[in-house]
Amino acid sequence: MAHEITVHVQRKDSPDGGTYRQTFHVAYEPGMNITTVLQRISGHPVTTEGENVTPVAYDACCLEEVCGACTMRINGRVRQACSALVDNLLKEEPEITLEPMTKFPVIRDLLVDRSRLFKALTRVKAWVPVDGYWDRGPGPLTSPAAQEEAYPLSRCMSCGCCMEACPQYNDKEDFIGPHAVSQAILFNTIPAGQAIARDRLDALSGPGGIASCGNAQNCVKVCPKDIPLTDSIAKAGRATTLHTIKRWLGR
Ligand code: SF4
Ligand code: SF4
Ligand code: FES
Repeated sequence: MAHEITVHVQRKDSPDGGTYRQTFHVAYEPGMNITTVLQRISGHPVTTEGENVTPVAYDACCLEEVCGACTMRINGRVRQACSALVDNLLKEEPEITLEPMTKFPVIRDLLVDRSRLFKALTRVKAWVPVDGYWDRGPGPLTSPAAQEEAYPLSRCMSCGCCMEACPQYNDKEDFIGPHAVSQAILFNTIPAGQAIARDRLDALSGPGGIASCGNAQNCVKVCPKDIPLTDSIAKAGRATTLHTIKRWLGR
């Protein structure tokens, strides 16, 4: 195993600045992940040319692939820095390349602004509505079948991988994205979420909703949580069709 890893980083000093690349050598440590590599670069931000530079900006929070904050393109593939192990990456490529996601505005270096992703969740009301926080006893029971259906969808960590891979998710379209479609289906599946199921179907039927999905199915291939996004998209298509017919019939 190499004693030193070569890491190429795409950098940008400000949202409006130009992009450029810098290369760093980092001492190999057994079991290290990309977040550790970035920490080591921050501790000694000197390029392979010997130039002292500013530490690379990146995001991280949970360090166990649950918050999605550290999502970036690593060797050209979108994934989480905290769960990307250097040993595995070196089997793919002899050197490591780190770039920010392309579908979100870059704030600085590898740090992106994922606001659009979270706004989409508010558009589909991806929550259980409450009218107070006092004890109202147990909520509605969920059947084992509904639990089986809902659990895989509940693993979404809003990382952005599916949006990065989706050709319909771009600056020109107002598509909410596959994650938001799937979260709308999740909250319409569980009994506690059904009070505002129609609002979610309105959002899915409206501009930027399910009709914007081109069914390229790239999203499902990159989801780190193996969420059956294309099943959710198919369910959303059927549910919105039924919803539209019911509205025509005035129900
Ligand atoms: S199926 Fe294709 S177009 Fe639809 S959300 Fe997934 S990647 Fe995007
Ligand atoms: S659906 Fe998967 S890829 Fe998309 S945001 Fe959720 S966890 Fe990430
Ligand atoms: S730091 Fe939370 S997913 Fe990587």
